[in-house]
Parts: sequence; structure tokens; C-alpha cells
Amino acid sequence: MKHSVFSIVLFSLLSLCSAQNASTIYDLIEATTTCAGCSALLLALKGVAALGNDAFVSVITGVCILSGAEDPDVCAGAIGLEGPILAHDLRGMTIPSYTSTWFCTTIFGLCPLQAVRPYSVSFPTAKPAKTRPAPSGQSPIQIVHFSDIHVDLSYTVGANYNCTKNICCRPYTTSDAPGKTQYPAGPNGNHQCDSPKTLEQSLYAAIGQVAPNATFALFTGDVVEGAVWLVNQAEVTGDLNDAYATMASKLGMPVFAATGNHDAAPVNSFPPNNIDTTISSQYVYDTLSAKWQKWIGSSAAGQADKYGAYSYKLPNYNLKVISVNTNFYYKQNFWLYEKTIQYDPDGQLAWLVSELQAAETAGQRAIIIGHMPFGVNDAFRDGSNYLGQILNRYDATIAGLFFGHTHKDDFQIGYSSYSVQSARTANSISHIAPALTPTSGSPAFKVYTVDPVTFGVLDVTVYSTSLEAATYQTSPVWTKYYSAKEAYGPLVSPPVTAASAELTPAFWHNLTAVFQSNDAVFQQYNARKSRGWDVPSCDAACKAKSVCQLKAAEAQYNCATVSAGINFKRDTSAVAEVDGPSECHGSKMMEVLSRMNKGSL
Ligand SMILES: *[C@@H]1O[C@H](CO)[C@@H](O)[C@H](O)[C@H]1NC(C)=O
Ligand SMILES: *[C@@H]1O[C@H](CO)[C@@H](O)[C@H](O)[C@H]1NC(C)=O
Ligand SMILES: *[C@@H]1O[C@H](CO)[C@@H](O)[C@H](O)[C@H]1NC(C)=O
Ligand SMILES: *[C@@H]1O[C@H](CO)[C@@H](O)[C@H](O)[C@H]1NC(C)=O
Repeated sequence: MKHSVFSIVLFSLLSLCSAQNASTIYDLIEATTTCAGCSALLLALKGVAALGNDAFVSVITGVCILSGAEDPDVCAGAIGLEGPILAHDLRGMTIPSYTSTWFCTTIFGLCPLQAVRPYSVSFPTAKPAKTRPAPSGQSPIQIVHFSDIHVDLSYTVGANYNCTKNICCRPYTTSDAPGKTQYPAGPNGNHQCDSPKTLEQSLYAAIGQVAPNATFALFTGDVVEGAVWLVNQAEVTGDLNDAYATMASKLGMPVFAATGNHDAAPVNSFPPNNIDTTISSQYVYDTLSAKWQKWIGSSAAGQADKYGAYSYKLPNYNLKVISVNTNFYYKQNFWLYEKTIQYDPDGQLAWLVSELQAAETAGQRAIIIGHMPFGVNDAFRDGSNYLGQILNRYDATIAGLFFGHTHKDDFQIGYSSYSVQSARTANSISHIAPALTPTSGSPAFKVYTVDPVTFGVLDVTVYSTSLEAATYQTSPVWTKYYSAKEAYGPLVSPPVTAASAELTPAFWHNLTAVFQSNDAVFQQYNARKSRGWDVPSCDAACKAKSVCQLKAAEAQYNCATVSAGINFKRDTSAVAEVDGPSECHGSKMMEVLSRMNKGSL
């Protein structure tokens, strides 16, 4: 990336000026509209970071308050927690560079998404001439999948559900307190709040009714609630202990879980081991591994204690469950913006290869679980591509992948070739579980009917409870929402309706063709993503993007775009006309400042 004359001039001016303060940085952000200009902005921020974490936090908090993006207490709390990580990045950063360009993309939306840095994952043996096994026809088992519970232990019945923060139902101020507000929260939850404990218990009771005989449950992470500007290490530890103790006592089945991006304080903070910092997430791994040990044994728990990832072979089934820590590929884990971004943080991909190789050699089946699906725009394209290489190499061993994070009921198909996306090249399927927290839809979970030999998924049934139901606040009623085989099986060509037929990657690929040709079916899928709540309209352009995302287990193929730099004050409508509708009407900086407190999802 070359410096533009503009940015060089701007930087020289900045260097001549005295020290930066919140209003000069705010003005600079306002004035910066290009990727090249972003380098000048980063140089100014780097200058502030050089003065120390306190100076950096104070200036950026001032910027946040000036922008009006968040309440001052949220600005102070969120930036106090996350600012030191950004300052650490900036101090070590070469500007411009691959790292600084990604930083500008993620934080300011000013640079384009960059191409993957080529890197060949190495494999101990060549890919064998094996294919995905056909269903055994044996009597199926059930697997439960729930995610993103985001339990708020400070949820207060009667507190204001219509507050100015990203999650409500807490007495943040005296006027938010029970008896003082005209928007009192009910006992079982609200769409503007994270899950009360009662909703969490209702979930486990519903699972106990619907699938009491399930072999195990998958929980794909995010225990902690979203008031991240207040979340500290003590709360994370308490929340994790409480949630996993509740699962252990209320669910009569083993739970195989994954580490979520919210399961740390500061939110998203998972420094790889070789980073020199006093901010550590070891306490997260200690807490999780201690709680997981009863389900995965001491050897796998020992792995989890190192990286938040583990591999566990079930004693009674020919199946290995591999839980990966996806925070090492998450764009908002700001520890990853090192001078040279690591190809394989903590060697997790090499570890995954060794686990899959051992499974292949032993003739075992494997499933991969994690928090963030690899095809989303939240994933670094690099890590996502490297994982894609692994999925291709072991496509005959991996029965399926299971994720959460998006809060949507969704799926993503991986291909052996993205230039020839077809039923024949479709070779992995990622199932994405809807959230329990009501913030993005009706609380829901999935139950898979699964072949007990191949572990191929034969059907996916979603259960949900509607907050709009008249009896919800007294007693949430969970009902079957739909079954994928019932809803979609008859529509693909040829139809897939037999109970014993697997919903293979090719099936899901063929379903995307139905979505393209039959808009009514696509609109049903679109509504099901949020379980029918607050369904966004999706026109032809939106549908094209949506289908593109379905057909991408690698982020570089998901059709995501970054719109040009938008500042705080400018009317964004003109930009929106040129670039197409933007999800966020406001600056990317604002979006990120607000994401700092929301921790995104
Ligand atoms: C910030 O710095 C500028 C230029 O150095 C100066 O004019 C301004 O008064 C400062 N503002 C505050 C609030 O300190
Ligand atoms: C929230 O409060 C605003 C007024 O402050 C009101 O206009 C709005 O309807 C309320 N929203 C809900 C969901 O009650
Ligand atoms: C669970 O298994 C028991 C014992 O085999 C059986 O009686 C019961 O019907 C099963 N329940 C469900 C919901 O499948
Ligand atoms: C997918 O569609 C193709 C035809 O386009 C068909 O040959 C194939 O059998 C279908 N696969 C599945 C799993 O339905």
C-alpha cells in the first residue's frame, strides 16, 4: 500500500502539531475516507499508544464520547478494557503493512478485504481414495445442539427493558429500577435483554422433554452476557461456573462445549501463547477445563486447559469430537494483529491435523465443533482458508461441523473447488445453531437425528419458544418449529425424504439451487433464521449475497464487501446509493466502538 500525497501531508502536519487529544483524533477520523488516509490515522494513533495505555485509553474514550455512539459510562468501561490491546497492536505495527491494512478494514471499514496469504497446511499422509460413507441404516441416535445462551445473572425482573444500552433489564440507573420504569421486564426474558436464569432453565427442561434419550449435547459457546463494559474476570469465572453447573445438573447427558468469544474479559481477548502481555485468558481455560472434565476425561481436559480446544473419543461410539478455539481466527480478537500475523496461532491447525490423521488411521469418524463458523466475515480469510484445506484433506472422515455465534439458524457448505461449486464438489457441512438469548430471535435449539455408525446427520429439527405468546411470561412453551427433511427434502431434485437418507453436503448444495429458483422457499429459510421474529426483508440482491454466504465455508468466498469510509457526521445516503445498502448507517468506527461494548455477537 503506497502512501498518498494527501496522507503524507496530513501526517507531516500531525507530526508538527503538539500531542494528539480526543478532539484532534476525532477530527482526523472525520477527515479520513480512504485506505491510504487510514495509514496516517494509524500513525497518529500509534503516537498516542506510544505514550502508554492510560493515555491511549483516555484519548479513545474521549473520541467515543464525542461521537455520541454510546453512553459515557459504556465508552469508559469498554475502552478501558479493550483499549490496551489496541494500543499493544499499534505500538508493534508497521504502517502500512498487511496487518495495518486489516486493522483499517476491521476498525474503520476503510480498506478492502485482502487476499489470503498463501500457506500450505502440511499433512502427514496423502489423501486416500476414500469418500463419505453411505448411511448404515441402523437405528439413529439423537444429538442436541444449543448455543449463545448469554445468561445475565443480573437480569432484574421489573427493571427497564427499554434502556439506552445494548442490553437492558438491569437497574443501571435509579429510573431503570423496578417500580420506577414504565417498561418493566417480565420474568422470562425480553428481546432487548440477555437471557434470565429462568429462560436457561426452561431450555434444559424443554430439551429434557423433547430429547431425553439424546446421546449427548453440543454447546457451541458464549455463556457470558453482553454488558461487556462491566464484565471482569470475576464475572466471567462466576458465569462460566454457574452455567456449566446448571447444564450438569439439568441435562441428563454429556455436553461437549466450545470456547466462545464472550467467555473472556476483556471480551474477545484470547492472546496466543507467545504474546508478551500480562493480560491472560488462562483463567478461562482453567475454569472451562475443570467444568468440562466430567464429560471429556482428564486427558482432553488437559488439552482444553492449554488452548480452550480438545479432542475426545467417545468410549461407546466410533466417534471423535474435536472442539476448536475459533477465537484464534476471529477478527475482533485484537491480539491477532501482530507485526506479522501468525499463520497458525498456538499451532492449533497443526494439532487439528494430527487429531484428524489419527482418526483416519484408526478408522474413526470425527465431528468438529467451535463457536464461530469459518465462512463468516468475522473470520480472518487466512485461517478460514487454512482450515478449508484441512476439511478437504479429511472430507471422508469428518461427518459434520457445528457452530454458533451468528445467533441465526443457518448452515454453510464447503467445497473441494470454489470455482466449480456443485453437488459433486460439496464436501463439508457446517450446522449453525440459533441462540438461546432472545436478542436476535425466538430462543431455540436443534435436535439432530444421526446415523450411529457414520455420524451423518439424517435430519435437523428446530424447537423454539416465542416471546410473543400470551403465556410466555408465566410459562414459556417450546414447540417444534420445523424439520429440515420435512420442509426441504421433498423440494430438492431428486427428493430426499427417506428417514434413513443423510442430509449430505450435496443435499444442502442442492437446496441452495431450490432457494435460487423458488423465492418462496428462500423466504421461508430467511424467516427461519430468526425463528420468524422481526424478519428482515430480503430482495434479490440480498438473496444473492445470502446464498453466496451459504455456499462458503471459507470467508474469502462469502461475497462480503466493505463499504468506503464513512465518517461520524456525513449523511450516508449518498454512499449507500453507490455501494448498495449498508448494514450500518453510521461510521465503521462508530460501529466498532459500539462493537467494543457489544463484543459484536
Ligand atoms: C487539542 O489539541 C488541539 C491542537 O493541539 C488544541 O487546539 C485543542 O485546544 C486541544 N483540545 C483539548 C480539549 O485539549
Ligand atoms: C421505548 O421508549 C421510547 C420512548 O423513550 C418509546 O417511543 C418506545 O416505543 C419504547 N419501546 C418499547 C419497545 O416499548
Ligand atoms: C426414551 O427412552 C425410553 C426407554 O427406552 C422410552 O421409553 C421413551 O419413549 C424414550 N423417549 C423418547 C422421547 O424418545
Ligand atoms: C443433487 O442434485 C443432482 C442434480 O443436480 C443430483 O444428481 C444429485 O443426486 C443430488 N444430490 C442429492 C444428495 O440430493
